[in-house]
Formats: sequence, structure tokens, C-alpha cells
Amino acid sequence: MSRHVIRPFEEADLAAAASLLAQRHRVHRKRHPLLPADYEDERLALVEVTGAWETEGASGAVMVEGGEVTGYLLAAPKPSAVWGPNIWVEAAGHAVREPEHIRDLYGAAAAQWVEDGRIAHYVLVPDDAELIDAWFRLAFGSQHAHAVRPVPDTPLPPARDLVVRRAARADIPVLAELDLVLPQHQALSPVFSSGGIPTLEEAVADWEESIDDQDYVTFVAEYSGQAIGSAIGCSLDKSSAHNGLAKPDNAGFLGFAAVLPSARGRGAGRALGEAVLQWSADTGYTSVVTDWRVTNLLSSRAWPRLGFRQTFHRLHRLIGH
Ligand SMILES: CC(C)(COP(=O)(O)OP(=O)(O)OC[C@H]1O[C@@H](n2cnc3c(N)ncnc32)[C@H](O)[C@@H]1OP(=O)(O)O)[C@@H](O)C(=O)NCCC(=O)NCCS
Repeated sequence: MSRHVIRPFEEADLAAAASLLAQRHRVHRKRHPLLPADYEDERLALVEVTGAWETEGASGAVMVEGGEVTGYLLAAPKPSAVWGPNIWVEAAGHAVREPEHIRDLYGAAAAQWVEDGRIAHYVLVPDDAELIDAWFRLAFGSQHAHAVRPVPDTPLPPARDLVVRRAARADIPVLAELDLVLPQHQALSPVFSSGGIPTLEEAVADWEESIDDQDYVTFVAEYSGQAIGSAIGCSLDKSSAHNGLAKPDNAGFLGFAAVLPSARGRGAGRALGEAVLQWSADTGYTSVVTDWRVTNLLSSRAWPRLGFRQTFHRLHRLIGH
């Protein structure tokens, strides 16, 4: 017979939750030392849990066993319409001593979320097989990957048959065309992303304004003198999708890459990705982060081949069917 009690998360639970989170992160960093060391410290883990708790609309549950908090779950809605009537569990929003217990915590907390009409559920889970299995048995599936790799320690050899160079203002027409390639691809099966696709005119106007922005580096790959692909690198600080425990220190970011459909599979994606890796090394970053939709059959195969290792899984569940 179970001796645990589950009750709503309260402010007084923050310290115990931070202790559980720091412990989870210590184990996670054994697999991924590039994840930030700071949050192994309970005081800094507390900052993250407090952030999750203080997010507008946050709610959740704790498990208490023998007077001790042994698990917690905290979630809050994101205002963006892209995610539907949603509730999000961020990286600092859950930690359990026993993976199986996340199911009890979700069972308790999700009742109110669904009652409030929040039927699109998202959770960022470390790549811990038992924890992911427990979430899968709550009908969650894998939607998105967060990944990291160290910068290359020796210069990468140049690509064969391809020229990779920095983009110039004269490239704006092809850069704009390539901007549409990613959302067009992700609107198709099996991604079915609902993200909007800009018009070519909007993409050109965007590039006219941003091409000289020194915070971003843009590379173009050419084959037989024709531009066939592009990639963008920047500091990971520029990305809103990587935060707290899921944000390696001093990291570059492979934020965008696209190759024209007719030119895929001949190494341009690798050459562009490697240009961002090399730029990150030359800039002084320690690692490079990227992320992808796991249903994107192209990027989900290309980026692991470039040495990226998945750190977090974003899982998703849509209630009602
Ligand atoms: C993702 C993308 C940029 C990759 O570019 P690409 O030129 O097709 O990729 P490459 O030919 O350089 O292949 C990259 C690596 O993936 C591997 N790969 C590609 N397709 C694969 C497949 N179906 N199965 C297994 N591996 C595959 C290649 O073998 C290569 O690894 P290797 O160099 O070790 O052999 C390109 O497919 C694209 O534009 N996709 C649509 C937009 C997009 O998804 N952008 C990424 C946003 S996250």
C-alpha cells in the first residue's frame, strides 16, 4: 500500500523542490557535462524553481513521503497562440526521486489544467530513459530535441565540391528564398507544424534590415557557382528556447539552416553546420547548441551526424481523443 501523500504545490515547498532539482541535474550532467554546472548548487536551482512557481498562472503538485517532499511538478501557460490552449512544464518544473512517481504528480495536477480548458500539454524532460518512459505512459510523445556538442578542437577540412562563405548583401534574394524553405518543409507531413510561412517580400525586407547585424553570422553554400543553402550562427543568449538548466554556458547556437530541396543530400547541410561549428570555436565558445523537431526527417538525421547529442526531449500530449 502506498504511503505517499500528494497535495498542491505551495511556496513552502520551494527549497525541497530545489534540492530534488539539483540532484536530478547532477545526474544529468554526468551524461552531459556541457550543461551548466551552476544548477548542481541547490541555491541556484532554487532560483529556477522559484521562477517556475512565480510564472503567471503556475500550479502543480508535490509528493510527500514520511514528511519529506520526494517529488514535485510545476507548470504554467505560455501566452503564445502557437501552442494552443496549453500548459508547459519547463526544465525546472519537475524532479522526482522515483521516476514512476511523476505519473502520480501529473495525475493530480493535470485535472485542474484540463478543467481550465488547457488541453495541449508540453514538458521538457532530461534524456533519462526511466523518466521518459514514465512520461510516455502518460500518453506523451516526443516532439522536439535540444542538443549540444563541444566546438571542434582542430580545424574542420573544407567540403568537397562546395564553397562555403560569409553572406553578402547581394545574396539577399537567395537568403530570402531559403528563409521560406524551413517553414515550408515543416508545414509538410510528418511535421505538420502550424508555424506561419512569411511571404518572399517579407523575407527580403527582413534581410534588408538585418544583414549587417553583427550579432549574427550568416553562411552561404555554393555549388557550381550557385547558392544552394544558408546557415545562421549566433550566441545562445539570443535564443529564447534555451534557458536555465537546459542552457549550456558560453555556447554558440546553430539557429537556422536550409538547403534548397533540389540540392539536398550532397553535403551542403554538413558543410554549413560545420561552418557554424568552426565560427563558434573561433569566437571562443566552448560548445554549440541546436534544436530540431523530431518529426523533421531531415534535420533529425543531419544534426546528430554532425555530433550533436540530445540533452532534453520536449514531450507533448493533446487531450481529448
Ligand atoms: C537539414 C538540411 C539543412 C540538411 O542539409 P543536406 O544538404 O540535405 O544534408 P547533408 O547532405 O549535408 O547531410 C547531412 C548529414 O545527414 C545525413 N543524412 C541525410 N539524410 C539522411 C537520411 N535520410 N538518413 C540518415 N542520414 C541522413 C547525411 O548522411 C549527412 O551525414 P554524413 O555527412 O555523416 O554522411 C536540409 O535537409 C534542409 O534544408 N531541410 C529542410 C529545412 C530544415 O529542416 N532545416 C533545419 C532546421 S532545424
